[in-house]
Amino acid sequence: MRVLGIETSCDDTAAAIYCEQQGLVVHRSASQIATHAQYGGVVPELAARDHGRKLLPLIDFLLQSPENAQQKIDAIAYTSGPGLAGALLVGASLAKSLAHAWRIPCIGIHHLEGHLLAPMLETNKPEYPFIALLVSGGHTMLIDVAGYAQYEILGQSVDDAAGEAFDKTAKLLGLGYPGGPLIAQLALAGDPKRFTFTRPMLNRPGLDFSFSGLKTQVRTLALSLHSQPHELDSQTKADIAAAFELCVVDTLVKKCLRACKQQQRKRLVMAGGVAANQRLREQLQHHANDNGIDVFYPDMQFCTDNGAMIAIAGYYRLLHGLHDMNNEIHVKARWPLESVNLSPK
Ligand code: KG4
Ligand code: ZN
Repeated sequence: MRVLGIETSCDDTAAAIYCEQQGLVVHRSASQIATHAQYGGVVPELAARDHGRKLLPLIDFLLQSPENAQQKIDAIAYTSGPGLAGALLVGASLAKSLAHAWRIPCIGIHHLEGHLLAPMLETNKPEYPFIALLVSGGHTMLIDVAGYAQYEILGQSVDDAAGEAFDKTAKLLGLGYPGGPLIAQLALAGDPKRFTFTRPMLNRPGLDFSFSGLKTQVRTLALSLHSQPHELDSQTKADIAAAFELCVVDTLVKKCLRACKQQQRKRLVMAGGVAANQRLREQLQHHANDNGIDVFYPDMQFCTDNGAMIAIAGYYRLLHGLHDMNNEIHVKARWPLESVNLSPK
């Protein structure tokens, strides 16, 4: 079985072909960073328009690629939510139209299930059960994954997502968008001990997160140093970035260990855009190993939004006999992850 995966939930136009025998065949993304950077964040209308321009040529490129070798596509998987409604509609309508024309099944995928299953693209895949830390621009969640499509949310951010905190801090310091990679890069030159931020919600029981207080701590500190934080000297910016990154990483790592202990799980999966953060990967690996926990994460390129995770998530759903042959186009800007659970066998 060969599945074409399409992802258009936010600001990456991405597609991939996944094959049951070969694994990932080919994948491509067209980033919209240049379109949104001047506004300091994603502009939904521009995102949808850009997907509309780029998606079909991107799919055509994959189909004609030497890797695909003119092989026929057996099914299409597309992100049907959560995300920006207009952006999702572009992917959904093209997926449905192609599936209708080719008379093949089509399946709508939950974006977060895609992120969660991205580590399954690797040779060293996690076995079930595991704890998943899903950290992206829109979500910060700890999920107990008892088996395939058996998701239980243990905790999540009550306000800003971790990626959002990176993006807002970067904006405050005048670094640009998306902020995560820029903060991480700047932090390399910073002294994480010059400033200290209080770790949010660590002294309380439970597995929820909160990052908006941290954002305020950074803003208050930056404003105490300069009335225009984006004009701070580069060493001070680097020191703030390093202290901020350390605070987020520390918080995420401690909550992951708490979740593993609570659920008595020995495997931990990390996914989503913030999972590309090198310091987070190192610290999680280090502390998990000390506690006898194995850590799994996707290759860097499959941490942020991509088509491969949607193709593989579609493949698993199709294996379970799930697909829709109708011509209705539905997207869900909001969509609870647990609603895609399958009942245990
Ligand atoms: O998963 P993703 O591509 O899109 C969403 O579904 O949200 O995640 C994007 C988020 C952005 O907030 C971006 O700043 C963050 O992931 N990010 C990072 C890094 N690379 C991307 N955050 C911290 N460190 C990174 N290296
Ligand atoms: Zn995402």
